[in-house]
Amino acid sequence: RERLQGRRIGRTVHVYPEIDSTNSAAFSLGHSGAEEGTVVIADSQSQGRGRLRRPWQSPPGRNLYTSILLKPPIEPAVAPQLTLLAGVAVADLLSTYCPGSIRLKWPNDVQIEGKKVCGILTEMRTSGHGIDYVVVGIGINVNIRKDDFDESFRNLATSLRDETGGRMLSRLDLAVGLYEHVERRYARYLAEGFGPLRESWLQYARIVGEPIEVIFRDELQAGEVIGLEESGALLLRDDDGREARVLAGDATVKKK
Ligand code: BTN
Repeated sequence: RERLQGRRIGRTVHVYPEIDSTNSAAFSLGHSGAEEGTVVIADSQSQGRGRLRRPWQSPPGRNLYTSILLKPPIEPAVAPQLTLLAGVAVADLLSTYCPGSIRLKWPNDVQIEGKKVCGILTEMRTSGHGIDYVVVGIGINVNIRKDDFDESFRNLATSLRDETGGRMLSRLDLAVGLYEHVERRYARYLAEGFGPLRESWLQYARIVGEPIEVIFRDELQAGEVIGLEESGALLLRDDDGREARVLAGDATVKKK
């Protein structure tokens, strides 16, 4: 708590042993006027949500499930930047545990050695004036073991514990570290805009110049990544030399 004092992120913390979803809780708090930086954290979620309406397995005693309420003075169209911001902050944090092996996978997964260790779900509320508030939900696999994952995920997911030699990690330390990294990245984002974030994101993604395939609404697009747009879209040059942008949503990006 002391480490979070005087800061924006985590000045108010709501802790639950179990909740439906920390994103839903943070969304309600936003609705009732909670201050920017309010966070919700839970030991388990009964209805943890992932992207594309997928459930997010959220057993107790193991992982980090947290949501951060933000009120950024930005246009709704560039709100995906906050997902990228959270991904970079998580990568900053996890790099202190696994130096050099953290990678961001567009649009919002954090991976270690190609396996997912964290997912991010950003939801926002807008009105006639633009963004009212944004909830950035972050789920990090911390102490869960490989065998605890459903069989279908076992080869796709990993945990920080499995990647750091099997010792139990403190979820409290991780949560505080996460809020500190989000604080730092967010302050810089408000002061300097998207530029520094784009640069860090591209560094962690190590994707520029890579040939990739994207499946978007059942259509396959192949090309080479040339950058990341302000909207958060991935910029490609396709095999005919044309530029194409890939918006998040239901795109799956695959290295060729
Ligand atoms: C994904 O990769 O599909 C996103 C997963 C996001 C999971 C986190 S856990 C904390 C927060 N509360 C939720 O219900 N979802 C997010």
